[in-house]
Amino acid sequence: MTPATGVASTVRFPAGFTWGAATASFQIEGDRAGRGDCVWDTFCRRPGAVVHGDHGDVACDHLRLMADDVKMMADLGLQAYRLSISWPRVLPQGTGAASPSGLAQYHRLFELLLEHDIEPVPTLFHWDLPQALEDRGGFRQRESAWWFADYAALMAEEYGDTVDRWATFNEPWCYAYLGHASGEHAPGLRDRAAAVAVAHHELLAHGHALQAMRSVRPNLSLGIVINPSPVHVDDTVDPDVERRIDGTLNRWWLDAALLGRYPLDVLDDLGPLATCVQDGDEGTIGQELDWLGINYYNDHFYTARTATTPGVSPHVTAPGSAPLVVDRPQTDIGWPITPQGFEALLVRLQRDYGDALPPVYVTENGAAYQSAPAEVPDADGVVHDERRIRYYDAHLRAVAAAIEQGVDVRGYFAWSLMDNFEWAWGYSQRFGLVYVDYATQQRIPKASAHWYAQVARTNQLPG
Ligand code: FCB
Repeated sequence: MTPATGVASTVRFPAGFTWGAATASFQIEGDRAGRGDCVWDTFCRRPGAVVHGDHGDVACDHLRLMADDVKMMADLGLQAYRLSISWPRVLPQGTGAASPSGLAQYHRLFELLLEHDIEPVPTLFHWDLPQALEDRGGFRQRESAWWFADYAALMAEEYGDTVDRWATFNEPWCYAYLGHASGEHAPGLRDRAAAVAVAHHELLAHGHALQAMRSVRPNLSLGIVINPSPVHVDDTVDPDVERRIDGTLNRWWLDAALLGRYPLDVLDDLGPLATCVQDGDEGTIGQELDWLGINYYNDHFYTARTATTPGVSPHVTAPGSAPLVVDRPQTDIGWPITPQGFEALLVRLQRDYGDALPPVYVTENGAAYQSAPAEVPDADGVVHDERRIRYYDAHLRAVAAAIEQGVDVRGYFAWSLMDNFEWAWGYSQRFGLVYVDYATQQRIPKASAHWYAQVARTNQLPG
């Protein structure tokens, strides 16, 4: 493999490297009538919670258009597709009776993917908790670990003969802290103890789910998808803030999932907030993982919160921190572009976890760009998104550089296959390789999609 030098040289990836793209159920599926309510349906109805009051009722209408969408993925040469299963679609009440039509939808999707030689990589929880379970306390309740394990076992039974590789959770930090501490995401609470309980019960649910899925089908390849990021602080905040945020954002998840224990300094920082952790839980969480999914968008930068800083910090052990706007290029959503941080993160994983680190997949990475006129279709129907290509190129060079330094990265999933519902941003942010015209549901592969198809086909970045 050619080392990444920062100069635009050709970079080859190891033989067998997997090239894919990712989406999530609530963000694309539509077919609202075909499933139970989830917490995001409820959150979208809350005035001011989501830009333009957008919701997921139709989204990309993917369940209706799945055959065309899979054909499009095949045309783009994707080898794998990371999707998520909507828990309330297969289990409308979260527990109890499964929905035959909901189960059938994913059978059909998996069959279509396999017919086109695309490996499905489903995630069981990408934030759309059944509202019926939220009404019973959601992941704030310890019992949620068993609700989730039962759901996971059902999925293993139902699909495990054809689908091999599964993730339990997607970015559990976001669901816990954006959902329950800062309230920016569903279910929209601002309760620090609740957030920590969710952070713990998600991991406990993950551990129980691994056990439950393996007891049904011992040979599945099981992982979890987290979103660690390098943390930087300016000199207006206590330097300890960097350690504290790194603790709850990064080490909490990595240490528990890979080493079977929470970091002692984080437990200390949390103090009484962590009373939900019971003896034996950490061992349950630390079940062997077949792979680890890393979602990376940008490094995190912090300054001190002031009287005019809006909202509440999601960082419960550093509540006086606020995001720092750094003077460097950013994507439309306001996230700084920091590919060197991505390389540093991957190298750190290897350095800090060594033999405990399973093979790594980059399960999400991508950029929101949509500024008119450049990134809407031009008169010839072409979407020129060269900035997105540059973002992908830079971040893939970072992955290659990490592989060169010994990190076992086995694959990469672009976020996202297509423009979709970007949570609290609604449809106002476009992350897709493929442009979606929401009025007609037409899909138009952007220049980046054609570029990515070539990368996947050749297993290398062009010089
Ligand atoms: C991640 C989410 C994904 C998407 C991207 C932009 O945090 O996992 O659903 O919204 O951000």
